[in-house]
Order: sequence, then structure tokens, then C-alpha cells
Amino acid sequence: MSGFPSTGRSHDEIMGDLRALRGDDVRWQDGRTFGLVYDGGPAVHAIAEAAAVEYLHENALNTAAVPSLARIQSDVVRWTADLLHGTEAASAAGTPASGFMTSGGTESILCSVLASRERAEHERGVTEPIMVLASSAHAAFHKGAHLFGLETRVVGVGDDWRADVEAMAELAAGPDAERIVLFVASAPQYPQGVIDDIGAIAALADDLGANCHVDACMGGFFLPFADRLGRDVPPFDFRVRGVTSMSADVHKLGYAPKGASVVLHRDKGLRRHQTFVFDDWLGGFYASPNLQGTRSGLPMAAAWSVIQTLGVEGYLDLTSRALETADRVRAGVEATPGIRTLGDGRFQLVAIAAELDGNGAPRLDVFAVGDAMGRRGWHLDRQHRPDSLHLTVSAGNEPVIGDFLDALTEAVTEVGTTSVEDRSTTYATID
Ligand SMILES: Cc1ncc(COP(=O)(O)O)c(C=O)c1O
Repeated sequence: MSGFPSTGRSHDEIMGDLRALRGDDVRWQDGRTFGLVYDGGPAVHAIAEAAAVEYLHENALNTAAVPSLARIQSDVVRWTADLLHGTEAASAAGTPASGFMTSGGTESILCSVLASRERAEHERGVTEPIMVLASSAHAAFHKGAHLFGLETRVVGVGDDWRADVEAMAELAAGPDAERIVLFVASAPQYPQGVIDDIGAIAALADDLGANCHVDACMGGFFLPFADRLGRDVPPFDFRVRGVTSMSADVHKLGYAPKGASVVLHRDKGLRRHQTFVFDDWLGGFYASPNLQGTRSGLPMAAAWSVIQTLGVEGYLDLTSRALETADRVRAGVEATPGIRTLGDGRFQLVAIAAELDGNGAPRLDVFAVGDAMGRRGWHLDRQHRPDSLHLTVSAGNEPVIGDFLDALTEAVTEVGTTSVEDRSTTYATID
């Protein structure tokens, strides 16, 4: 198709084209992708689809006109705060943790970066703000720094892949300490799936009167249930002194369709720094909770409905299946000569790297293994430093994980000591 469509086409033609266009898309329905889409099963699909049709056209821009979306947002935010101990911990401080729904982890993170800058300017007069984060923190924080004019100070990770807290402490005691507005901690971080030392990082922030954001985009709807299932989950949420904000994605391990995350602040006073209010233009009073203007009601209603379909019982079931499946992947990788996993192997994220020889050189090219898996219909993302393949395991992968491990053994044997030229990594694209 070249120019703007000149004549209308029929419903059937358009749907036929849409279905044909999807021919090359990953088939997450078959459990052969790890991440991108999290499959909560038929009951979750059914309610999400019904809620999506119900709210397809609704706009949360003005909840005075669509009060149901105000209620939906407030329920989802309150449930998430409850999960993350924002209700009980913050009540001593006056108001419970409060926040907003956003379109996803990135938007929640951007809102938290903005809030940290605004708070520091209002409370401490900081005009040249700095964010302290580890190299494992999500790229969205750098996007926030770029958009909102913060400088970054990036520390490394230790042998256990957790943020280097000593390096953060040096910055907190250094000449630019007064300019620090935000410390970032992840629960868990994406690349190797480990939880940072939240208590130590939050304490640094607290001492300076700066914000500490815990990125629980991956963990917010997973760790609380892993905890209840008896996994060793350290306190990572509002129970930890000094944590001022958190992000938790309903559209990841909350198993809701895309476009739903929650950003929470420890109390309403902190939340105030995220919002924007303006009425000096001809259109009238404009109050904006996040980065959007017009806001689709669809993902909000779908998330609200999915959470209630599952409840604690449903999430415990999905979480236990995801954990057992991730454990099987790790065991299979460790039993395969030439490859290993990175990180402490406790939760749903798995990074597969090459084993190292006595000189510290990789025994095989793990990207070549990834390509060989691709030829077998398995979609694995590449990441680097070190080269590794990334899997976010969820319940939807459970039925096919035996086939995955068979394919992995085959792929490793096929690759042997060959390597591929293309060293590019593939987290996200622009086109
Ligand atoms: C730890 C973490 N933070 C933030 C994000 C960004 O989330 P989104 O892709 O919804 O913007 C991700 C995405 O995988 C993540 O794993």
C-alpha cells in the first residue's frame, strides 16, 4: 500500500490482511517465546477479551465523564499497594501508598524519575539533578534522564550481579551528593533476574532525603506470590525504610493484556510531585496524572478484570508453574555441557551464557545457539556483557518446556565451536 487509502475496504478483506500480516509474528500462544506476552490461560483470555470489547472506546482523560475508569484505576492501584505492603507500612506516615495506572513499565519509571526531580527541587532546591543506578537497571531510567534533564551516575554490579552498593555509597558521600535526587533498585533486575540490596540502597537515599525507586515491573506481581509459596524473597517493597516509589506491571506477570502498569508512591505527598496541573490556556483546567493525555480505558478495564479473575489463588497457581518451569530450564541448562546460567537462579528470569574455559574464554558462541533455537521456532532475546540469551519464563511456557530443553541440547550440539558474525543484541526496536 503506498498513499493514504482512497476508498474504504470491507471488514473481511481487512481482517484477512491483518491475519496474513501476522504470519511472521512470534507464536506466543504456543509457549515458544519467553517474555513479550505472558499467557495466563483460557479464563484470563476470555475475561480480558470481554473487558477489552466493553472498554474499547472509553477514555480516561476526564474521569468526571467516565467515573467507572476512576473507580477501576483506584481499585487496581489499591490492590497493588496492598500486595506491596503500601497500605500497612505507609499508614503510620499518614496516608497509604498511592499512585496511578500507566501504559507500562517504562511510563511508570518515567513518572518516578520526574517525581524525584520535582521533589528534590521543591524540598532541597536541587537544580542539576543526578540519578544513581546500576548497569543492570532498566534502560527506561536512562530514557527518563534524557527526557527530564538528569545526569546519570552508573555503578557496576558485583559477582552476584547485584548493584554495587559500595560504589553507590561512595557517590552518596562524594562531592555531588547534594545533587542526587534518585537511587534506583530493582526487584528483580531484568538481565540476570536478581534482586538488588534494596535495604542498603534505600537507606542511602533516605539519608540524603532523596527518592529511592524500586523497579518491580517484573517482580511486583510475582515476588509476593513466590514469597507465599515459600521461596526466599527478601523484603523489597514499602516494608523497606527509604523506598519512596515503586513500579509494578500488570501486563507482565500480572497476566493482563498490554498497556497496564502501576506506579506507586509511599504517600500522597510524594505522589504530588508526579502530577501536572495547568489552566492558563483557552481549553480549561488540565490535570494529568502521568505522561499521557487521552488514555485508553481498555487496558485499565482488562487489568482490573484479570486481577479479579485470578485472585491470590490464581496468581499462586501461575507463579508456582512459572517457578517450576524456570527451575527446569535452569537444571536443563546446567546439565548441558558448554552452557550455564547467570544469577542466583531463584525466580522467573533465566540468562543462558557460555561456560568459560580455564582461560576465561567462552566454550561456545551462545548467540549461535540462539540462532539455532530461532531456526527451531524458539524466540530468545540476545543481551550482552556477557553475551547471553534471555528468558522470562511464565506459566504459558510450562506445557512445552520439555521440547524446549530437547531443542536446546540439539542446538548446542549443532553449533559446536562455530560462531555467527552478527553480534547485535535485541531488546527493543524503533521501526
Ligand atoms: C525490570 C524491568 N523494568 C522495566 C521494564 C519496562 O517495562 P515496559 O516494557 O512495560 O515498558 C521491564 C521490561 O521488561 C523490566 O523487565
